[in-house]
Amino acid sequence: MANIEMDKIVAHCKNVGFIFPGSDIYGGLANTWDYGPLGVELKNNIKKVWWQKFVQERENSYGVDCAILMNPRVWEASGHVASFSDPLMDCKECKARFRADNLISNYSKGEVNPDLMTKEEMSSYVQEHHVPCPVCGKSNFTPIRQFNLLFKTQRGVTSDNALDIYLRPETAQGEYVNFLNVQRSMRAKVPFGIGQIGKAFRNEITPGNFTFRQIEFEQMEYQFFCHAGDDEKYYEEFKNASKEFFISLGIPAEKLKFHDHDKLAFYAKAACDVYYQFPFGWDEVNGIHNRTNYDLTKHQEYSGKNMEYLDPVTNEKFIPNVIENSYGLDRAILAVICNAYDVETLPDGEVREIMHLSPKIAPFKVAILPLIKRDLSEKAHELFRELAKEFRVTYDETGTIGKRYRRQDQIGTPLCVTVDFDTLEDNTVTVRDRDTMEQVRMPISELKSYIEKIIK
Ligand code: GAP
Repeated sequence: MANIEMDKIVAHCKNVGFIFPGSDIYGGLANTWDYGPLGVELKNNIKKVWWQKFVQERENSYGVDCAILMNPRVWEASGHVASFSDPLMDCKECKARFRADNLISNYSKGEVNPDLMTKEEMSSYVQEHHVPCPVCGKSNFTPIRQFNLLFKTQRGVTSDNALDIYLRPETAQGEYVNFLNVQRSMRAKVPFGIGQIGKAFRNEITPGNFTFRQIEFEQMEYQFFCHAGDDEKYYEEFKNASKEFFISLGIPAEKLKFHDHDKLAFYAKAACDVYYQFPFGWDEVNGIHNRTNYDLTKHQEYSGKNMEYLDPVTNEKFIPNVIENSYGLDRAILAVICNAYDVETLPDGEVREIMHLSPKIAPFKVAILPLIKRDLSEKAHELFRELAKEFRVTYDETGTIGKRYRRQDQIGTPLCVTVDFDTLEDNTVTVRDRDTMEQVRMPISELKSYIEKIIK
């Protein structure tokens, strides 16, 4: 695989319809992106794989879809109002703004870990080492200020009775506050899990490496409620599940690694991220956290509702521990795209852009291509209508067949089905494989099961 630069991937995503800059015709809005016709298919397919693994295939597993706007007490209980913040410094010369921790880790090339430093220690480090501003090169920064990442808005008609509320910065709290509702309505027994996929919002000011860091993004989070004595066992199980998930999206194991947190929150027993080897370096795609029973205990304290679970067998009453599995959907998509995109030189010297997407998540499973438009499009459209009942299919009748194959390679369509004159006689078609470019002839009646086999 060629060494692909991020710029090339960003341009490709825009050109072929995966991801566009947000509010493009107005010059964009920093750190926002829109998924295009192919991106939305890829996104939905990845959500489906995640939901199947965590919600559908696990026993005692339930889904929810909670409100984005929650009672602001939720964010006081969770600690986000008081301490969900980044340490920021402004360059006094060029006015650019940076996260102090990023300045230090970039300057020290990862040798120094700012997660282990206090605010004062980070300030001193920047001063003592004359860390330069990445924009203007001078070293003249303001002191560090903590900048809260919560997006605040107001509920209410007039400003004097308006209530400050927040766009959720994570989906997890919806799962915690519904612990009792889910447990009772589903008669769930601990251990059980609650999964949710949805939008989250953070007022990130630092540049984002394409969709890696956005102000509006999607999370897939799964909270597993268990007995205190079982937490370590489940923590290990979910660590393994996280790698399995990314591998099932087609990402090779050698491009994934665990990264244990250097500094744990005071209540946490263990925390680990999965890192993927992006073109811009190794970085986090998900997190697995052993959060003890801190979250439910805090919600009990702030809401005044008893969050205890009564074990029907032992009659023991306890607040369950939580193993949190937090996946950034956009980062999973970005990892998949970076992994799939390639520029290949074929044996005849021709160069092709290709996306080696796993057929399971490819936006289109099949492209229907009539060899020539005039006489064959009716039969090809008929085939499109038949297959579209089962699969996401695309249709292309413009340009030479070679150019059409290349267009499908570019967007990762695993199979191209060519309708030719023999098709009119004997109802057979040619099926071409994206990766090997090999072609087989088969009856239309066998197509459906062939495609299903490829997807599985
Ligand atoms: N509930 C725990 C939680 O939210 P986190 O590590 O802050 O933990 C979890 O976020 C995941 O969400 C990250 O691993 C990442 O994949 C994704 N994520 C976080 N901030 C993001 C951002 N600004 N843009 C895109 N994805 C983000």
